[in-house]
Amino acid sequence: MAARGPLGVAVVGCGTISHEYLRNLTSFPDLEVLFCADLDLERARSQAATYGVAAAGSVSQALEHPGVELVVNLTVPGAHAEVAFAAVGAGKHVWNEKPLTTDLEAGRALLEAARRAGVRVGCAPDTVLGAGLQTARRLIQAGAIGTPQTALALMQGPGPESWHPSPEFLFQPGAGPLFDMGPYYFSTLATLFGPASRVAAVGRQAAGTRVIGSGPKAGTKFAVEVPTHIGTLVEYEGGGAASVLLSFDSPLRRHGMVEITGTEATMAVPDPNRFTGEIRIHRLGSDDGWETVPAAGASSGRGLGVLDMVRALRADAPHRASGELALHILEMMMAVEKSAGGAAFEPVSSGFVVPPPLPEEWDPHARTV
Ligand SMILES: NC(=O)c1ccc[n+]([C@@H]2O[C@H](COP(=O)([O-])OP(=O)(O)OC[C@H]3O[C@@H](n4cnc5c(N)ncnc54)[C@H](O)[C@@H]3O)[C@@H](O)[C@H]2O)c1
Repeated sequence: MAARGPLGVAVVGCGTISHEYLRNLTSFPDLEVLFCADLDLERARSQAATYGVAAAGSVSQALEHPGVELVVNLTVPGAHAEVAFAAVGAGKHVWNEKPLTTDLEAGRALLEAARRAGVRVGCAPDTVLGAGLQTARRLIQAGAIGTPQTALALMQGPGPESWHPSPEFLFQPGAGPLFDMGPYYFSTLATLFGPASRVAAVGRQAAGTRVIGSGPKAGTKFAVEVPTHIGTLVEYEGGGAASVLLSFDSPLRRHGMVEITGTEATMAVPDPNRFTGEIRIHRLGSDDGWETVPAAGASSGRGLGVLDMVRALRADAPHRASGELALHILEMMMAVEKSAGGAAFEPVSSGFVVPPPLPEEWDPHARTV
């Protein structure tokens, strides 16, 4: 029998993205943020004060807090595994920012440790639960494009070092366009086509160093350790095929293009890094160009996946942005990286259950537990 009442949460990692999470998490009545933690204690205290969280301190203090049932891990990718293992070891459920971990063995071991401890793992991206992509899924499920066959996805731009004040980690293993932006695109396609069966890719790097463009470290040069342009082909177990290009090497900024082509129409779904946006449909034989459909449903922003996990825990039901889905996406991305490094085609063997779409009336601000 699941416990009742709002579920206690600790946020670990109080950097850039913690603002959006804390703003949203503190507005959901089904959970209560009890603790903010960071290696930088001042940062943890400051975020707690800004968002009205009662306590702040170290990661071990967060894990000792008796009211905390779930840890929201917003650390940099290189620390995702360490913090998640500590949370699971303390008997807490854990939500990781993406990618799940930076190596596959750690990802597999984390899911196994959680299974043994009887706790759950959830993982970003939760943009797939936003109104835009959920409306697209509902339309596709209702037959709006016939049978989905193929997908074309594109994310290109000059890279995040212009705006992020500490962008070094975005060019280290565990990030780059593949691991930083890939989870949005590959998770969106996975929820439409199911598990991938094989991938092939080419990758390259335009420059070995980059320069920080904003904040106190502006003007500082840093090393680029990963490919900054990746072109990928994906074949899905169910027969779908996708071409996905992810690049930080392009002066031309074109983010968020995902087109799903079915037997009767092509659908342009909203940007997979956003929670809303309109859906456009171009029907076979139509001379009228694109028809637009507005997104319907909840669009609260980052934290929706945590809320879905909280509600699922209280209802003893599966949560949607699951550790299994994130592990599959990690395995795919590792296979893409290996293929781009010179290998030919790489098999992908893991499976996961495609979560059901959220109902249109799903309300993040309703008290349901
Ligand atoms: N910045 C964005 O726009 C954005 C968007 C979506 C997802 N994300 C993801 O969110 C995560 C964090 O990104 P960010 O941009 O907020 O990074 P950031 O560098 O701004 O913040 C990370 C924070 O984690 C803390 N930290 C690092 N290791 C720690 C550890 N072992 N224990 C406790 N705290 C630790 C750091 O001190 C820092 O305060 C990454 O996984 C990233 O992929 C970021």
